[in-house]
Amino acid sequence: MEKLVKLQIDGREVHAPVGTNIIDAAYLVDIYIPNLCYLKGMKGFGACRLCLVDIEGMKAPVIACNTKVKEGMVVSTQTERVRDIRRFVLDLILAIHPLDCMTCTKAGICKLQQYAYEYELKDTSFTRKKMGYPIDEVNPFIRRDPLYCILCGRCVRVCKEQGTKVLDFIGRGINVEIGTAYNKPLRQSGCTFCGSCIDACPVNALPEADRWRKGREWEYEKTESVCLLCGSGCNILVSVKDGIIQKISTGEKPGSAKKYICAYGRFGYDYIDSKSRLTVPLKRVDGELRETTWKDALSIVAEKLKDAGGKTGFISIAGLSNEDALTLKRFAKNVVKTKHFDTTMSLYADARSLRDSQSSLITSSDLIVLVGLNPSQWDRVLPALDASIRKRVNRGGKLIVINSSDTRIEEVAALSLKGDELSTLKGIAKVLIDRGLKADIQLESAVKDAEITKDIEKAAKLIIEANKPLIFTSPSLFEASANITLIKGKVIAVGLESNARGIALLGITTEGKNYQEMVTDGMGVIYAIGEVPLSKRPDTDFLIVQNSHLTELANEADIVLPSTTFLEATGTMIDYLGRFKLLQKVIEPQGTSKNHRDIFITLSKILKSPIKRPTEAEIKKALKVKKKLTFSPFVKKEGLDVSPKDFIESINDSIIKGRRLSWLKTAVEAVEVTAA
Ligand code: SF4
Ligand code: SF4
Ligand code: SF4
Ligand code: FES
Repeated sequence: MEKLVKLQIDGREVHAPVGTNIIDAAYLVDIYIPNLCYLKGMKGFGACRLCLVDIEGMKAPVIACNTKVKEGMVVSTQTERVRDIRRFVLDLILAIHPLDCMTCTKAGICKLQQYAYEYELKDTSFTRKKMGYPIDEVNPFIRRDPLYCILCGRCVRVCKEQGTKVLDFIGRGINVEIGTAYNKPLRQSGCTFCGSCIDACPVNALPEADRWRKGREWEYEKTESVCLLCGSGCNILVSVKDGIIQKISTGEKPGSAKKYICAYGRFGYDYIDSKSRLTVPLKRVDGELRETTWKDALSIVAEKLKDAGGKTGFISIAGLSNEDALTLKRFAKNVVKTKHFDTTMSLYADARSLRDSQSSLITSSDLIVLVGLNPSQWDRVLPALDASIRKRVNRGGKLIVINSSDTRIEEVAALSLKGDELSTLKGIAKVLIDRGLKADIQLESAVKDAEITKDIEKAAKLIIEANKPLIFTSPSLFEASANITLIKGKVIAVGLESNARGIALLGITTEGKNYQEMVTDGMGVIYAIGEVPLSKRPDTDFLIVQNSHLTELANEADIVLPSTTFLEATGTMIDYLGRFKLLQKVIEPQGTSKNHRDIFITLSKILKSPIKRPTEAEIKKALKVKKKLTFSPFVKKEGLDVSPKDFIESINDSIIKGRRLSWLKTAVEAVEVTAA
């Protein structure tokens, strides 16, 4: 159990865990100590001096963000002395800060504004100073306006902690400012445009580039949901005004920097109404796609499905909600009566690896082992996994990378083991057993001839010393990785799509041909759901594409049915860590687009075999699969070797072609060409 310290803050008794700082301890009893530079979970920084408090027995006030609680401590947060210092600090800040709260986009959520109000400061008593630093606005995501900067350093620390290290303090003394190396624009400084600095900044120095006049914060209707654009499945907070999404953020509490979303999740939403958005069904007439009615389109689809029956192949993305996926399975099996229904998951994972994955949190693990995975914020391959691991390492966790290829994340690893992953895993298992950890007989005999290197011994030592080791593995190496966790720790296979784990748990895996076979083998009808990564028409007599955007594949279709995006429909999903999450409908669907399950249900009625809408209870029950890990031979599953970067880009093609992200792709390519 956590050891607690008893102290008093403003006359109230507080029991705080050993090692807690005074800001967090006060928060436990709803006492809020003003602060501008503190970020929860990070070591106090001492830049703003606003969190000063008095402690009985100490001559001078101390900063609460960097002072740990002690038994019997008596803290006062509102003495005249500390209030005077705070007022003085704020007075100084206001001397270098524009006082334009009436038009400032941050008004209402700006901490400086809030404190100036609380400390009754209308203006500064010092001579105002204009620094005249240039604004960086040559990108469509973030407007960096140093004029507003109060030098709290939050953006610098957040960017460093997640490993991007773009921002830093530049210069000295009165001329210090926040900038990039050689003062280059963000675009040329390795910025990934994740926007973590936007969420961290307490003032208006780093707003979204298009935030100006998109409404006040208090006018926004804010809804929590989940980004479905990659295997990270990040939580998002969507701000809507007048039925239009105005911004997306992590939904992090102000002053905390635990959560992360990437540029796709934060800025990609403008694809919702991009030029290629489908709002009405299309059908091929004389070689051309022409608009038609839902009634006409669905009656053609129903007729074709009825004729093709078991020769129909359903190919879908694994970024569907549980409800859509389960309805699709029911529709394919029970209505169309085909065995051929599969998802893109089968291109990078076997269902068992995802189904048998355990549940854990990165933050509660003290040792992370990455096997055969190469997450990267820069390539936007599971960027949130990359950022979360780097943060964990910066907060005291350790990382072991086991990969036969080079990875960027190994730069923060305590140990990087190159070479064949299977031999490495075998070796580690052998050392663990040799050191006295228990394993079953089969495992013991499978590793008895394993080769041991010094690095393998070091890796095993780190695992022995760790309290909660957590292995993240590529699905192809799941079984071999799981053998380690039969001895110690937990294991999770990471898919490339948001709901791959839900899809595996719900059993949306083919009972006939798999995805790849359906594409090449020639089917009577192919029914493609979501942005499947195909640009050419598969070998089929009739192609139905059900997607939110007119993709290259949709252009080849005979019928195109417009579906909703993940921001326009409700549902549930399971993220890679095993957490059940709710998807909320944050805006109304564009045009006449419908969500996938509604389309299947309507079709089932036309085909006179109506199916039921899955309920949440039903979904939860289906997701409860009992799993017990057992020994499996150390082999790598073959045929699961799509390029993660190419795959994630192709399932997000319409998003990347959206207004802002297309700029990002071009900018990144331009920087890469220059660097080469
Ligand atoms: S957008 Fe992300 S990478 Fe770029 S400066 Fe901000 S925190 Fe750093
Ligand atoms: S840009 Fe914002 S977060 Fe960064 S130092 Fe300035 S005020 Fe703080
Ligand atoms: S990391 Fe993936 S899930 Fe998270 S915001 Fe980015 S695209 Fe969305
Ligand atoms: S919050 Fe403690 S010094 Fe800024």
